[in-house]
Amino acid sequence: MIKVVLLGFGNVNSHLLKAFNKSDEISVVQIFNRNYIKMISPFSAISFTDSISEIANADIYIIGIPDDAISNFSASLHFKNKLVVHTSGGAAMDVLSSKNRRGIFYPLQTFSKQRSVDFTNIPICIEAENPQDLDLLQQLGSVISKNVKIISSEKRTKLHLAAVFVNNFVNYLYQIGSEIVTKEDLPFELLKPLIAETALKIEALSPKEAQTGPAKRNDNKTIEKHLHLLEDNDFKDFYKLFTTALRER
Ligand SMILES: NC(=O)c1ccc[n+]([C@@H]2O[C@H](COP(=O)([O-])OP(=O)(O)OC[C@H]3O[C@@H](n4cnc5c(N)ncnc54)[C@H](OP(=O)(O)O)[C@@H]3O)[C@@H](O)[C@H]2O)c1
Repeated sequence: MIKVVLLGFGNVNSHLLKAFNKSDEISVVQIFNRNYIKMISPFSAISFTDSISEIANADIYIIGIPDDAISNFSASLHFKNKLVVHTSGGAAMDVLSSKNRRGIFYPLQTFSKQRSVDFTNIPICIEAENPQDLDLLQQLGSVISKNVKIISSEKRTKLHLAAVFVNNFVNYLYQIGSEIVTKEDLPFELLKPLIAETALKIEALSPKEAQTGPAKRNDNKTIEKHLHLLEDNDFKDFYKLFTTALRER
């Protein structure tokens, strides 16, 4: 049985709790959060603390807090020589304090508390300073996912950079699309089948092969019309930037 303490209880750690809780091989012995959180069913039996000096004994401590806070927080832990990991794609392993054994447990997915997720196919990128800890993280990851990968901090940062493009930026483009149609009293729902097919077709085609649209076809009159219709200068700049990039590539 692997004993885990979750440090911070935001999007990622709350999803990890749900996934770990389904397994008999992992026991979440405690949750720490700097502000009080009432643990509700089915997690009411799990110990909670908001006191850093009362963090319980465990095999693995998983820090799930904003990237910029990890360094100071890990230095403030009162124990030494334990396995402490963080869940960030963008922060290196060495942001963690060296007083504990360091590691990474980065689930490559977008997590929001309101959405449930199935971890089975989520890549879990792991890294550790020593082989025994790497084995333990492999074991932990394999309980919830079929896709556990050993990836260095350097490569993980690049993976995270790619993830920002395919997830955060794409999602922002949905937001632009939503604003444009909402202004015309059209429902965003009209765009959802298109969004779904755009995501699905890259299962079979490369992103380059899957590209369609006015820039790809060189439909210059349509492009001019779109630019004329865009009132927001930021959206106009995005449109020009993407159109130029798509044409050049
Ligand atoms: N969300 C994702 O899609 C995703 C995916 C993969 C990896 N990650 C990584 O997972 C980590 C957590 O992300 P998240 O989205 O779960 O974050 P989040 O939902 O914003 O989590 C916030 C948590 O961090 C705590 N916290 C904030 N500032 C703190 C500080 N200075 N000291 C101690 N605790 C602090 C908060 O405590 P209070 O409740 O007390 O404010 C809360 O428990 C990040 O490293 C992120 O890069 C996120």
